[in-house]
Amino acid sequence: MMWWENNFLKVKDNKLYLGDREASEIAKKHGTPLYVYSREQLISNFRSLLKAFPDRTRFGVRICYAMKANPNRKILEILRKQGSWIDAVSPGEVSLAVRVGFPPQKILFTGTSVSGRDLQEVFSRDGVTINIDAFEQLELMKEIKGSGFRNKKIRVSVRWNPGVGRGFSPRTITAGERSSDGTPIKFGVEESKVLMAYEKAAQSGFVPVGLHQHLGSGWVREDFEIIKVAVDRMIQKARELEKKGFELEFLDFGGGFGPKYYKNQGIFPVEEYVQYICQKIKNARLKIEAVALEPGKYLMGNVGVLLLHVEYRKESYENIFACVNGGTFNMVPRPAIYTQAHHEIVNCSDVDGGNKQRVTVAGNLCETGDVFGKERFMPLPKRGDILAVLCSGAYCRSMASNYNLREKPKEIIV
Ligand code: LLP
Repeated sequence: MMWWENNFLKVKDNKLYLGDREASEIAKKHGTPLYVYSREQLISNFRSLLKAFPDRTRFGVRICYAMKANPNRKILEILRKQGSWIDAVSPGEVSLAVRVGFPPQKILFTGTSVSGRDLQEVFSRDGVTINIDAFEQLELMKEIKGSGFRNKKIRVSVRWNPGVGRGFSPRTITAGERSSDGTPIKFGVEESKVLMAYEKAAQSGFVPVGLHQHLGSGWVREDFEIIKVAVDRMIQKARELEKKGFELEFLDFGGGFGPKYYKNQGIFPVEEYVQYICQKIKNARLKIEAVALEPGKYLMGNVGVLLLHVEYRKESYENIFACVNGGTFNMVPRPAIYTQAHHEIVNCSDVDGGNKQRVTVAGNLCETGDVFGKERFMPLPKRGDILAVLCSGAYCRSMASNYNLREKPKEIIV
């Protein structure tokens, strides 16, 4: 069995199947490049996260899908039917979620460098909770509230920065003072300003209901110890706020955990994490009504694959290239943006055959960095083969561009 096989991806007779259909047949029928998403895998991911919570917690559980991972309407509809909430980061995302039928009460808007116009748009949606990213943002919020929303009850939470963060790349660490490459972290309210933010929010006529943190994206097993420290800090902070009279309705621990992207990746222990959170809340006797998580990758990563067609194989200075009919920037931009990102690549008609070589899977864009995989030890692809780029459900289509005036691929759900 290949390490990546699941409900969606299966190998039969050395061929890749997506659900019960052969990947090469799907490619023939719908054309390439093509994203294929699995309804079954998505539902299974959603339910397994819910199941990780102990049966009898005193508080409710809110799985808020981080829709930036993949805002495909059908995906949103499937999740809405499962009972999902939404983490939205722009008025555009809020608006799409509402159009798909999410009640505004189930949407948390977490902006950064938020504009007056953003606030106007979001305030006009009755029921959306605003997650405050900066103490200094409150002045603007107060101004906009006064300009037409004076009597409106607007719920807010504070995104704080607990001083530690983790992510698979320096570019996806979102808490702490600086990222691991020295970049100052722009997100969240620093510890010493959190209480002030609640006080100012209340004085400005907002209703504080939650505390939020998001530490980064792409955690692995080894990150768990630090993540526990951040959970402890969050609970401590919630206790302090309770003592000051801010009884919070929810604590939101953000996203960050995800599927397995590469073979030797120690997978982040989601069940243990969830149990740790629940236990700590219980011990602290917090009066909260709900715990929220904001998974993007966890829900959507392994739900999608990208199918590409091999136009020809090229050999140059002993390098072997499989030249495909798509470019990373236009469909799987992660390896071009984050040097640490890895997407497994499978030859759909020869998954684990004998003639393995070091192959670089080269895209059709005028960029040296436009490679889906560098020197992968894989069965030698030939003209006409279909390659599947795995784990392409999250942050692929949503970050794709039309660079070189190339089209973005179609998407289908099986
Ligand atoms: N909540 C907030 C406030 C976030 O900013 C994010 C992701 C999430 C939740 C979801 O994180 P996840 O569970 O997906 O790790 N483009 C990068 C990931 C950047 C994520 C940005 N924020 C990538 O392709 O790896």
